Amino acid sequence: MNIDLLTILPEILKGPFEQSIVKRAIEKGIVNLTIHDIRKYSMNKHKTVDDYAFGGGAGMVMEIGPIDNLISKLKSEKEYDEIIYLTPDGEKYNQKMANQLSTKNNIILLCGHYKGVDQRVRDHLITKELSVGDYVLTGGELAAAIVVDTIIRLIPGVLSDETSALTDSFQDNLLAPPVYTRPANYKGWKVPDVLLSGKHDEIETWRMNQSVKRTKKLRPDLLKRSGDKK
Ligand code: ADE
Repeated sequence: MNIDLLTILPEILKGPFEQSIVKRAIEKGIVNLTIHDIRKYSMNKHKTVDDYAFGGGAGMVMEIGPIDNLISKLKSEKEYDEIIYLTPDGEKYNQKMANQLSTKNNIILLCGHYKGVDQRVRDHLITKELSVGDYVLTGGELAAAIVVDTIIRLIPGVLSDETSALTDSFQDNLLAPPVYTRPANYKGWKVPDVLLSGKHDEIETWRMNQSVKRTKKLRPDLLKRSGDKK
């Protein structure tokens, strides 16, 4: 899978992908991640990428020119399945979308800044707009890092135990059950007996009941969505 990240702050995006699972996926060649500096595609000598909003008002707007130059160059080299803009007013990102995106070959993620990008970028160059939550980040970079991280761990061959992504919270609209490891008794805080019983059917039933109980308590909205297709 190829992921191209378009940003005016490339430094922010380097850290998250230099650790553990994502780093290994890149080293194994399962994912090819390229960070592009939009500023290099600016058309003027001062290398500006933003300008005042027509009609006035506070805040700068990211110009269409540099973004179009960069996206056009990438599109001349590859066919992209999705060109995604990260923005707080996009569609709310969830596990179902991560599952879908993890099956794609080539995607572009465009990180917004300031008051956002010129609307013509959204109207003509983008295929999807995603928000990672109802809050405003200083830029789309951290949102893009979340999307990349959630996609990469789902690609076959990335996690050592391939089934473990299937038992994540949200995969079946349920939160994951509690987990424990040794010691079985720590300061009198005991691991539930059933987990030590060796009875796999009973353990599975206990885990499912715990998942439902946790979901009802913390995220009842997920249970209403149980009929949704993945
Ligand atoms: N840029 C700023 N805030 C964001 C959010 N919540 N999701 C996606 N991109 C953003």
